Amino acid sequence: MTKIKTSARGCFITVEGGEGAGKSSNLAFIQSLLEAAGKPVLFTREPGGTPLGEAIRELLLGHKHTGMADDTELLLMFAARAEHLHRKILPALEQGKWVLCDRFTDASFAYQGAGRGISAERIATLQQFVQGVLRPDLTLLLDLPVETGLERAGKRSDPDRFESEAHLFFEKVRTGYLQIAAREPDRVRVIDASPGLQVVQDQIAEVIQGYLDNLNG
Ligand code: TMP
Repeated sequence: MTKIKTSARGCFITVEGGEGAGKSSNLAFIQSLLEAAGKPVLFTREPGGTPLGEAIRELLLGHKHTGMADDTELLLMFAARAEHLHRKILPALEQGKWVLCDRFTDASFAYQGAGRGISAERIATLQQFVQGVLRPDLTLLLDLPVETGLERAGKRSDPDRFESEAHLFFEKVRTGYLQIAAREPDRVRVIDASPGLQVVQDQIAEVIQGYLDNLNG
């Protein structure tokens, strides 16, 4: 009997990093590497990625609700994520697309967990509720000293609600991200984002190429 070949599930790649880590230019670079390797890429971001998710993003990043409770912030992140997963990420993966996402749940552990002080257990409960077993296949963490990142970010437009946090908050976020990377070194690859763009992109290209070789091998 002839078997009907179903298309393979695509890979889910996320990019994380503190403020000013250069996510935007490096995400475009990663997308170009994947497309050059023949992968159909869907690029998206969190919080956001859907009309409802983008509306939630405005609530989260704008200055209208400055005194938002930490739990509210966390729940809104996961509300946006649930919408994003069901409406966009999961259907794309099922169709064999490679989903490249600017931030995902590691950001909740770093910002709401390490940054705001919500316990990892409570965040993991929401992770389980919203995602089940779904996790990114590969995560690139663009890491750089907080001072350098804030200096770079400061050259951009008006700071959003997160960018307006104090220096100590971002130190905690950075530590939180590095702890995740230390716990899951196979999934989370740390990229030193402090040198110039070319050096950063050489590191990224090596990680992506290694990942693709591993899949093909
Ligand atoms: P950005 O992606 O444009 O950098 O902005 C998103 C902001 O939202 C950033 O400051 C990190 C923050 N964030 C969280 O605090 N928790 C999350 O789960 C996500 C996805 C983002």
